[in-house]
Amino acid sequence: MADRGNISLARFAGFDVWLGEDGRLIFGEGVIAPEPSARRLEDLSQVLLYPGEPGPDPLYLMYRDTGLVSDRRAMEDAGLRYDITVIYPGKIGSEYVKTLGHYHPKAPGHPWTYPEIYQVLHGRAHFLMQRGGEVSGQVEDFVVADFSEGDILLIPPFYGHVTVNPGDVPLVLANWIARDFQSVYEPIKLRKGLAFYDVEYKGQSIFMPNDSYGEHPKPRLAKPRDYPEIGLRQGESMYKAWQRGADLSFLVKPSRQESLWAELGVPPGD
Ligand SMILES: [Fe+2]
Repeated sequence: MADRGNISLARFAGFDVWLGEDGRLIFGEGVIAPEPSARRLEDLSQVLLYPGEPGPDPLYLMYRDTGLVSDRRAMEDAGLRYDITVIYPGKIGSEYVKTLGHYHPKAPGHPWTYPEIYQVLHGRAHFLMQRGGEVSGQVEDFVVADFSEGDILLIPPFYGHVTVNPGDVPLVLANWIARDFQSVYEPIKLRKGLAFYDVEYKGQSIFMPNDSYGEHPKPRLAKPRDYPEIGLRQGESMYKAWQRGADLSFLVKPSRQESLWAELGVPPGD
């Protein structure tokens, strides 16, 4: 496990887990070791700028529902799930490897969709988020977060999101999320991705508008920030923060952070 060539992710993951030389995760003792599900190149054909071009295959692996065995009960009782995703480096044509992308559904009894929190465990991430656009193709806000190891990102309600690996090493991410909902993939598939594609041009990442959308607000850059409201600080493991009592119940009941959504400029839905 702690062999040469395996990269320890424990500092931010919050428990023993390594990125193996073969690009798969190795879980330590006392850690739930889920089988990964793979997203293949063909699974993303509808959302790529250059479908049919070669690229890494699979593009990424999702290890859903991990954590310490001793924490399992508490996670289930809280209605929370902790997942780890490995996104391989590379490009499909000039577009960087990315996730399929989705929106979240509304939490029953709340005027908000489920939020989510990510932390980068290894590598570099571009998180792309957009509000609006599901029905009409009119995107109200487009946000890019260029984050690295230890950085934490809150995905507020209503933001569809895609994660891109613009680097040359595997990107490993963790997320906390409500256990019991199904992501909504169709609107992003129908519009062939988000409102912008993250592509390499002369060795740099640039954002190319997707013609399937009627409007393209200028991408806004999000900087890493602390979230004292939910007990999370940049550079500290969000798994350990939860173990120490950070209140993540808003992931299940988003109305609990109404003032945070207002601060972030997110209005409630119907
Ligand atoms: Fe999500």
